[in-house]
Amino acid sequence: MAIRGLTWENDMTIDIALEAARWAPSVHNTQPWTFAVTGQEIAVRASTDRKLALEDPGGREMLISCGAAVFNLRTALRQAGREPIVRILPDPDRPSLLATVRLGEAVEPDEHTSMLAGQIEVRRTHRAGFTETPVPERLVAQWQREAATEGATFTPVGAPAAVRALAALTEAAQAVQSQDWPFTLEVMRWARPPGSTRGDGVPADSYPKRPADADLEQPTGAYPEQPSGEFAQRDFAHQHPWGTDTDQSMSRATGVVALLTTREDTREAWLAAGQALQHVLLHASAHGVSAAFHTQALEEPHLRDFLRQRMCAGAYPQMLMRLGIAADESHGVRRPLTDLTDP
Ligand SMILES: Cc1cc2nc3c(=O)[nH]c(=O)nc-3n(C[C@H](O)[C@H](O)[C@H](O)COP(=O)(O)O)c2cc1C
Repeated sequence: MAIRGLTWENDMTIDIALEAARWAPSVHNTQPWTFAVTGQEIAVRASTDRKLALEDPGGREMLISCGAAVFNLRTALRQAGREPIVRILPDPDRPSLLATVRLGEAVEPDEHTSMLAGQIEVRRTHRAGFTETPVPERLVAQWQREAATEGATFTPVGAPAAVRALAALTEAAQAVQSQDWPFTLEVMRWARPPGSTRGDGVPADSYPKRPADADLEQPTGAYPEQPSGEFAQRDFAHQHPWGTDTDQSMSRATGVVALLTTREDTREAWLAAGQALQHVLLHASAHGVSAAFHTQALEEPHLRDFLRQRMCAGAYPQMLMRLGIAADESHGVRRPLTDLTDP
């Protein structure tokens, strides 16, 4: 790494934080970020050439992804003993500059930070049903508090009819998107075939062989009580014999269905949603809970607006997910740091 005129300790701390940032989740594993280090400050920039032109023309999902990377930077810096000083969208004349994160005063990492930091590289997205083991209610309550501290709202969806409605909207969006050839091509561009060595995209061992209209059942006694629900997966394999076989006997439960919302729909709100998402995901991972995402309906403006008005009390839905205990997880892939850091 280039000499930055810092002490050796500061260089090490920054390298640890950058390493953490690259493990953030991102839509289709596009990793739409670059980082530039000046003195004791890391600049987080949107890599707009990695934006999904058809699925995400406004860059909402791109900024949620980058928000998750900012959360990893914050967590890793605090774990390394430095308070992060964060400025979100610090320069109106440079819209691609999403945040700066500066090394602040020395701090002792607290237990919560250490727990989250320990999950940064091991957390993985799940793409099937969950085991019957219920998610404890206290965890759901904690995720609500964590999202709130980041400026977003995490809402578990308990009513069986609401879960069915969310599954139906997901199914409708997936069905419509699968009929749209340019859209399908865009998804396929980010699906990694088996044996691929590229450092981005969704690996073949992490998506199901067919877009399992996962025939899911609700675990008994889980929080909250839900009916069986079908949440359509994205069709990453698209007519290729790629993907994994899911063990249906071990993965039939829907898990906790949840919406992440914000009061506004600004770039600040998207970055806040990304930080909230990652806070929740790392905490969940520390307790053996994985998340599956179903964001197809949020990419269809009419469906998103319907969801906002009828199911989110006017708040803007940013993520739709299921959380539960999974039997297995795949390996993650990321681009090397040298590809992500600007001079
Ligand atoms: C904004 C956003 C939207 C996402 N939408 C979906 C989705 O609809 N379906 C899905 O299977 N995964 C979705 N993901 C998960 C990404 O595909 C995943 O984070 C990426 O492939 C990296 O893998 P990892 O999370 O296992 O590290 C989404 C992630 C983000 C941040």
